[in-house]
Amino acid sequence: MTDNKKNPYLAHIRPSKEPLHGFIPRRVTESQVRKALEHEVNPFTQEPHTPQYRDILEARKKLPVFLHMDEFFKVFNENQIIIIEGEPGSGKTTQIPQFVVYSDLPHNKGKIIACTQPRRITTVSAAKRVSEEMDVELGREVGYSIRFDDMTEPGTTFLKYMTDGKLLREAMNDPKLSCYSTIILDEAHQRTLATDILMSILKGLAKRRPDLKIIVMSATLDALKFQKYFSAPLIKIHGCAHPVEVFYTQEPEPDYVEAAIRTVLMIHRAEEPGDILLFLTGEQEIEDACRQIQLEAALDPNFFGPLTCIPLYSSLPSQQQKRVFDPPLPPKTPNGPPGRKVIVSTNIAETSLTIDGIVYVVDPGFEKQNVYHPRIRVNSLLVTPISKVSAKQRAGRAGRTRPGKCFRLYTEEDFISELEEESVPEVLRCSLAGTVLGLFKIGVKDLVRFDWVDSPAPEALLRALELLNHLGAIDTDGNLTALGSIMAEFPLDPQLSKVLVVSPEFRCSDEILTIAAMLSVPNVWLRPNNHRKKADAARAFYTNVDGDHMALLNVYNNYIQNQLDVSWAESHYLSAEVLAEAHNIREELMWMMERFEIELMSIADEKKRCLAIRQALCCGFFMQVAYKGDEMGNYITVKDNQVVQLHPCCGLRTQPQWVIFNDFILTTRPYIRTVTEVRAEWLLEYAPVYYDLTTFQDGKMKKALRKAAKKYIGRPNDADTEEHR
Ligand code: CDP
Ligand code: MG
Repeated sequence: MTDNKKNPYLAHIRPSKEPLHGFIPRRVTESQVRKALEHEVNPFTQEPHTPQYRDILEARKKLPVFLHMDEFFKVFNENQIIIIEGEPGSGKTTQIPQFVVYSDLPHNKGKIIACTQPRRITTVSAAKRVSEEMDVELGREVGYSIRFDDMTEPGTTFLKYMTDGKLLREAMNDPKLSCYSTIILDEAHQRTLATDILMSILKGLAKRRPDLKIIVMSATLDALKFQKYFSAPLIKIHGCAHPVEVFYTQEPEPDYVEAAIRTVLMIHRAEEPGDILLFLTGEQEIEDACRQIQLEAALDPNFFGPLTCIPLYSSLPSQQQKRVFDPPLPPKTPNGPPGRKVIVSTNIAETSLTIDGIVYVVDPGFEKQNVYHPRIRVNSLLVTPISKVSAKQRAGRAGRTRPGKCFRLYTEEDFISELEEESVPEVLRCSLAGTVLGLFKIGVKDLVRFDWVDSPAPEALLRALELLNHLGAIDTDGNLTALGSIMAEFPLDPQLSKVLVVSPEFRCSDEILTIAAMLSVPNVWLRPNNHRKKADAARAFYTNVDGDHMALLNVYNNYIQNQLDVSWAESHYLSAEVLAEAHNIREELMWMMERFEIELMSIADEKKRCLAIRQALCCGFFMQVAYKGDEMGNYITVKDNQVVQLHPCCGLRTQPQWVIFNDFILTTRPYIRTVTEVRAEWLLEYAPVYYDLTTFQDGKMKKALRKAAKKYIGRPNDADTEEHR
């Protein structure tokens, strides 16, 4: 062994015994696996193990999951479906898939083990960590696959971390999921739409594929629910949690962010060494709080130890994410007070990502939730109170390494009487249009009799069917149309899929492709606190009389003209990272368009091109239209009659009569965002059923539509609409 390491030419010589000698797939025992882990040679690469592998292995052996290895193999060998429940940090995500590797030996059979995660960020970080633990290169034996980013090697990758949404898409194309030997659904307690649907699909598939094994992993008591749903055995992993003392405020806090910052600083000044985890709701709030905590802590640096404040949220670039694992700064002077790390995170740190060393948790009791209002057909991200289960999880994060403290910024009475017991699963609070389209694609037609883990409200299903019908994805008998079948292939909302699929009819598929990619990434405009004016000026350069969709297109085109240059992007207050992502997505979508023979086209004349793009957008977004209600900037949404305003970041210089919008957001007031001007006659032409005037209430809007109808019918050869046919 030592010789092998010294002499690279000997590195490939196998020691006398194979590490996996005597392993019978799915009959593997704990002692066999423990021996293999200690073996000199890596069974998957045939290379000797590195010293790093041994160091990490020693740490892994201390994880609670490791103590349950024997039980795991006994139960897994005997059952097709099993449920595992264990506290966050006990080692489920990183260890269980590796145990399964030793059991399935997928590398010998060309099979893959999948482990799903609800979030992209944890999918990537788990794959990275496990590739290190297994001493292999990321993207080879161990890889990940998330929407628009695939880091796997066909034929080589046998352990694949992937988002639940990605696996759901794969199920559409291969309903038997034949390349997988075991599928692990992780973080099932989060009850995302995709994981819920996968549970239903896999439950059905298990009967047709007796060779497929399924593991459902959960961090909370929800496990009992899954156990019943699947009639499967449960393995309970007991953590090594330390006691956590919980404190409440005496009075409700009027401003939870301000209270949170105050509490963090109070802990820093008065409490023993130990890192702090603060839960806030979103990117902007987190970045602002970090800045303020850092500023205020710097006021008295000599008195208290150095403090590092680190943000954590899903859209954070991956290099920055890693900072949460950095050790705190050392003391300034040899005997000075030690440094402290403060992590300000969304609920991602609740169960998905464990950061060691946390002793104090500050919990204001809020999170951002996507809420769908079926009556007004609006999806909005709302700051909502967390559930009791979440509050307990958050507190638990303080007791990982030693006894900790949790500061709840609400009263004990509120905890008892105001917080719901459990969070509401996504299937009960989201728009189901994309899901229903996906289910139709895999052949599920009877949505009522579909084996839901929790059945959605009939109204939400009805709304989804109605939207898909209006888009032409399903016919009035409820059958998937040819258009719907192609729409389902694209990993986009049905509205945007529709626009992309029909865009060649308007000869602007090239531009719509770019817009679709730009609508699939986070906000591209940077607005640093100390450069707001400059950033706004830079942005104004891209505002476009026709609307925000055109602005996104222009930004992307400029980025390409400047050879994807990072410093160009930054000097224009644009996120280079987001633009690079949009570029990737565009390539990926383009490849898909090629596969479905959707031609890439563009119109040379700029004016005509703009017109065509706006018309194409109408074909998908005709249900997201608002009409100018007055001169005060109020708009009224079509059919739902909600009074909204253009979001302050909207780039339209005028206030056109009719606009389509990409999102409706409820913050301090209702806003529509990413807005483009359209004409009433286009709505009438491209969505005649939805714009059947007999279904409209009498009023200004109906009048305007009637006027447009006359114009449209009176001039069937209208140059604007005809030249693109
Ligand atoms: O899934 P679960 O919450 O049960 O635990 P895990 O994600 O498998 O993490 C187990 C341990 O692995 C953590 O407590 C960390 O010590 C370590 N880990 C790490 O160091 N880096 C990661 N990216 C993930 C886990
Ligand atoms: Mg986990």
